[in-house]
Amino acid sequence: MEGFWVLGGEKIQGEARLDGAKNAVLPILAAALLPQGDTLIRDCPDIRDVHAMAAILGKLGCRCQWRAGEMRISNQGLKHWEMPDEMSKQIRSSIFLLGPILGKLRKATVTYPGGCEIGLRPIDLHLKGLRALGVVIREDGGVIECDGQNMRAGDVYFDYPSVGATENVMMAAALLPGRTTIHNAAREPEVKDLQGFINAMGGRVRGAGTQVVQIEGVSRLRGCEYTPIPDRICAGTLLCAGAVTGGEIRLTNTRPGDLLPVTDKLREMGCLVSEGASVLTLQAPQRLRAFAQLRTQPHPGFPTDMQAQMLAVSCVAEGTSVIVENVFENRLTHVADLCRMGADIRVSGRTAVVRGVESLRGARVTARDLRGGAALVLAALAARGESLVEHAELVDRGYARLEQTLSRLGAKIQRQELDD
Ligand code: EPZ
Repeated sequence: MEGFWVLGGEKIQGEARLDGAKNAVLPILAAALLPQGDTLIRDCPDIRDVHAMAAILGKLGCRCQWRAGEMRISNQGLKHWEMPDEMSKQIRSSIFLLGPILGKLRKATVTYPGGCEIGLRPIDLHLKGLRALGVVIREDGGVIECDGQNMRAGDVYFDYPSVGATENVMMAAALLPGRTTIHNAAREPEVKDLQGFINAMGGRVRGAGTQVVQIEGVSRLRGCEYTPIPDRICAGTLLCAGAVTGGEIRLTNTRPGDLLPVTDKLREMGCLVSEGASVLTLQAPQRLRAFAQLRTQPHPGFPTDMQAQMLAVSCVAEGTSVIVENVFENRLTHVADLCRMGADIRVSGRTAVVRGVESLRGARVTARDLRGGAALVLAALAARGESLVEHAELVDRGYARLEQTLSRLGAKIQRQELDD
């Protein structure tokens, strides 16, 4: 198993450029099934989840060619509407393929993607949205058979603004004659980026980024070249690296407006954050102050994908911070390992109370999910002494060679083969 060796105590200083956002590229890869013609995605991050999604597209008959930060998708070979079981278990976001496969072939068979480390990850809202478009869905022993022969545009109401369910319906409706309206839609920037991609192919989607998204179905979509938005979560993670090590960092190719809840919290902790058109800089104070409280919410609230990283930073801030994880039911698994490093954290249900300590001490810890693993790396950067963070492969799902990025910024970090 691979892990990260870290010698803490170095300030993170320097400049880094952000790649395209994982959570924009994954639905865009799925939507690349829709057009007649090839798609080229620029600034595509070199991360495990992107390559896993490309492998699934390959199993469906498409051809995905990766070359130096660009992914070209040819979907002429798309013939299967059946998602390979082992694939849908490998990556949760394979569920995003349901919408475009139905939109294009009007028939789809997928298996339940199943839960993951951070929660059960149900798909009831995805299925509710597709049923509202007339898809007949039969569930039998973990297999979901969808018949879209009689699909029609219509109104979809989501009880919760699910990102994936919103994106699935947008893709299912893009080629559906008539107007589909999604009410209580997710407003994340990545949802709006999917709208941009569909419209770049000749689609007619509007309202993404607000609670009401309207899709006017068109008869055909054409291939295009597209540059997705930069990764706001990777940006937030690097800002946290600067904050927790008392450093100074400059990020380029960012969209500061996508990170307001995070930069607001970092300012509350005493960091100097300045925002340019596509540049973000952070200068950390000598000692961070605790933020009073942080509650994760759907966008534009504080993003759940930054909760673990901010919790790690709060471990060495002066004062007590309260963190409430409202989006996923099991997304505090990084607390136990942070306590092994000397953090003072109490958890009750979805609430963590963090009393800041002077410093953490290096330890051997275990990443249990993508963002929790990134949080442990941040804690190791700040800790006294050496740490080993197990399961680098979990972090690789969303960060392209994180150890190289951090090394270039002054960290003492290496990827290592660890005994199981
Ligand atoms: C997307 O997941 C992101 N993944 C997640 O990022 C992110 O944490 C999440 O949105 C929230 O922002 C991708 O975009 C690939 P949801 P998604 O549907 O679409 C419940 C990361 O670390 N729910 O908005 O799965 C669900 O259980 C990952 O980059 C239902 O109950 O998120 C959860 O509690 C992690 N029924 C809440 O909604 C459903 O049918 C939010 O889920 C669907 C979701």
